[in-house]
Formats: sequence, C-alpha cells, structure tokens
Amino acid sequence: MSLALDLSFAHHQGRWRLPGSWVGSTFPDLKMYQEIALAAERGCLDMIFFGDGTGIPSTYGNSIDAAVHWGIGWPRQDMSPFIAALAQTTSHIGFGLTYSSTFMHPYYVARLLNSLDHITDGRIAFNVVTSSRAADAANYGFAKLADHDARYRRMEEFVDVCRDLWRSVEPDAFVWNRETGQVADPAKVHAIDHAGEFFDVKGPLNTVPSPQGAPVLIQAGGSPGGIAASARFADMVFGGAWDPVQRVRHRTDLDAELAGNGRDPQSVGILWDIQVIVGQERSEALARRDQLRDVLPWEAAATFLSNQTGLDLAALPEKFTVGELQAEVIARNASPMSFRHLIAKYGEDHQMTRNDLVDESWRAATGYDHTVAGSAEDVADYLEESYEATGSRGGFMISHPQSTPRDVVDTVGLLVPELRRRGRFRNSYEGTTLRDVLGVPAFE
Ligand SMILES: Cc1cc2nc3c(=O)[nH]c(=O)nc-3n(C[C@H](O)[C@H](O)[C@H](O)COP(=O)(O)O)c2cc1C
Repeated sequence: MSLALDLSFAHHQGRWRLPGSWVGSTFPDLKMYQEIALAAERGCLDMIFFGDGTGIPSTYGNSIDAAVHWGIGWPRQDMSPFIAALAQTTSHIGFGLTYSSTFMHPYYVARLLNSLDHITDGRIAFNVVTSSRAADAANYGFAKLADHDARYRRMEEFVDVCRDLWRSVEPDAFVWNRETGQVADPAKVHAIDHAGEFFDVKGPLNTVPSPQGAPVLIQAGGSPGGIAASARFADMVFGGAWDPVQRVRHRTDLDAELAGNGRDPQSVGILWDIQVIVGQERSEALARRDQLRDVLPWEAAATFLSNQTGLDLAALPEKFTVGELQAEVIARNASPMSFRHLIAKYGEDHQMTRNDLVDESWRAATGYDHTVAGSAEDVADYLEESYEATGSRGGFMISHPQSTPRDVVDTVGLLVPELRRRGRFRNSYEGTTLRDVLGVPAFE
C-alpha cells in the first residue's frame, strides 16, 4: 500500500498551536520541512504532498478578516522552490505539488514541472485541481468562479496541452556533440500546434526531457465530472471520500470510467484522504483527538466551511433544508460533493438550523469525524480493511496532521513498523523515480 503525507493544512485551522507542533519554528521555515521530509523518507513513505489555494478565504462575512485573524486557509506559499530545496537533502521520497488548471497557463506549468522533475531526479507529481474557492478566483480576474463543467473542460484541455508539450521533445533529441557542435536533432523536436476552446499553444517545450518524461498526474475531484477527468488522464487519484460506502462507490465509478476509456482499472490507484493519530496506547490517541474539539472558535470554523462551500455562513437564515444548502452550493459553482455526507445521512428534505451548521463547521475544519485515532494496531486494522474494500490499489494520503512534526514521527515510528510486520508496507525503496515508487506506468 502507498502512504503519502498531505501537509497542506499542517499549520492551519489552529493545528499549529497544539502540543507537538512547530515549537521554535514558524511556517514556512524550510528547516521544518527538511525535518519532515527526512523523517518521512526514513519510513520509506511514497511522497509528501502540498495542496494549494491562492487566495485568503473571504466568503465568511464577505471579508478576509476572520480568516486572517484565525489563520484559516492561510498563509500559504508556492511550494515549488521548497520542493527544489527538499530534493537536495533527500534521495527517494516523492513530492506532490498542486496547481489550478482554472487559473494557470499550461505552457508555464508544463515547463515548471519539467524543471522540477529534473531537480528532484524524477520525483515530482502534479496534482491538477479545478479549484472551487471564490477567494482564489478573485485573484485571477474572475468576479465569480467559472461554471463547474467549464472548469473540467478546461482541465482536460490543460492536461492535453501539458502532455503534448512533455512529448514535444523526444527523449533522445539532445546529442551535445562537442566535435560537430550539434546540440539537438530538429527531427526530434516537434511543434504541438494546439488550438482549442481555452488555449492556443504552438510548442514545442524549450526544455530538456526530464527523468520521468512527465510528472505523476494526480486528480482529486470526486463529482462525476471529476471522476471522468481522472479516468482520462490521472496516474493516481486523490480520493476525498472518508465514508466506507462512498469510497466503494468512488472506486466503482472510477473503474467503470477507466474501462470506458480503454484503461486498465488495476493500473490507477486511489490515495484516500485520511487523518490519523497513532498513539502508543489507544487512550492516548483518543485523548489527542479530543484536543480538536476546543481548537477553533465558531467563527474560525465557520470561516473554513464558508470557504470550502462558497456559502456565507454568517448570512444563512435560521432554518433551511439540506436540499436548499446543496442548491446554494451549486449556484455558487462550488463542488456538488461539499455536503454529500449530509445528503447521504439525512436526505435533502431534512431541516437544519444554523446551530446544526456550527457543529458541522468544526467537524469539517478539524476533520474530527474522519480522524482515525488509536494504537498502531488499531490504525493498521482500519487501513487494511479500507484498502481491501476498495480493490487493494493505491493507499492513503495521510492528511492534515494534528501536530507537525509529531504526527509524522508517530506515523513513521509506530504505524509503519506495524504495517511492515503485516507485510503491507515496503522496507526499502524500489527504483529511482516516483513512478517506480508508486507503481505508476511510464509516461508515453
Ligand atoms: C481530496 C481533495 C483535495 C483537493 N485539493 C485541492 C487543493 O489543494 N487546491 C484546490 O484548489 N482544490 C483542491 N480540491 C478541489 C478540487 O480541485 C475540485 O475543485 C473540487 O473538488 C470540485 O470538484 P468536484 O466537484 O469534482 O469534487 C481538492 C478536492 C479534493 C476532493
């Protein structure tokens, strides 16, 4: 099974102040990330991963103030230079980097990722996201988030352009012949002449082909449009569902779409989003999980949920149904999956009050409900069961650690040995590139 660490929110939503976090160091101190990367590599984890967002959450109360005050969804750095630095002190662990196909240009991103693949010696993955947050869109000239379907059409074209660019210079195009002075063979360097709905790109990429040819492509969107996009191009999927039934459904839908695209469903794993707290004793881990209850005041939690769903929780009426919430999310072009767990649990006609959403907010912001807390045996049992129930492909994205670096150290020191004892996790790295480590086919 694959294990990756998603550090996107390690310093957000109050986690930075819990015991075990960041003492003597403040985000974005490179030395802290070096410590994390080295610890993760000692445990032979597959990858450390950085999601991203490019705006300060502004949906709650139509203002950035609450997010600024409480550190909700901000600050965030562009992690690409950090990855370049981390690659110099590690040798096997991979790095996942997120850019939005809704806001960025594919030529720039294809070129940047080519460089990152060089500087990491073939250890880079690209998490391509359509983005669903209004605050991000506002920084790229959009008064409103583009339509959900249009974002996925743009993503598919964006990835097509990137892949054509990564193929545009053949792997053996460069000859660097000192005798004749020839650098490269023009017959092996091709324009792509792309003209599409969103982009016109002539190509070729003006770079040297990189060790993996192309980064490992990861896609996270879980709506039907997101699953269809994954099936077309993803090497690995980041699965947001944490309910077992929804996980199986995601896996089944993805398999059907993969087969429809002529791809082997066995070749594409899902890394399930999961939060874990591993203790030497179960009671210790459960007590740590309970620290999440008091970590955020209501306003901070509501700011988080407002940003994720596009709904201003400060302006909601006193009562509403789950169906009305869902209609508002769709009207704002956010993800229709935002409240899927409420729909599954209660149905669309269920009536809620603002107070119910207070409860929902802190659960969403802390991940309390899907935090698997226990001894290494407990957590390994859970992982094995979920892995097998979803086709024994992929693994887990251990996300949003409660305390960093403490939870990284506990994962490596307690959970990894238990998974190894069960024959579920590697003892050493095989191969050199991230594709080798994740078992992802070569780029063609
Ligand atoms: C597990 C997961 C991780 C995601 N990570 C990011 C991220 O780092 N940055 C971002 O802008 N969007 C992120 N997204 C949002 C997706 O890119 C997408 O915009 C959103 O899920 C809406 O698509 P959907 O309706 O198909 O789920 C993530 C979504 C999921 C499910």
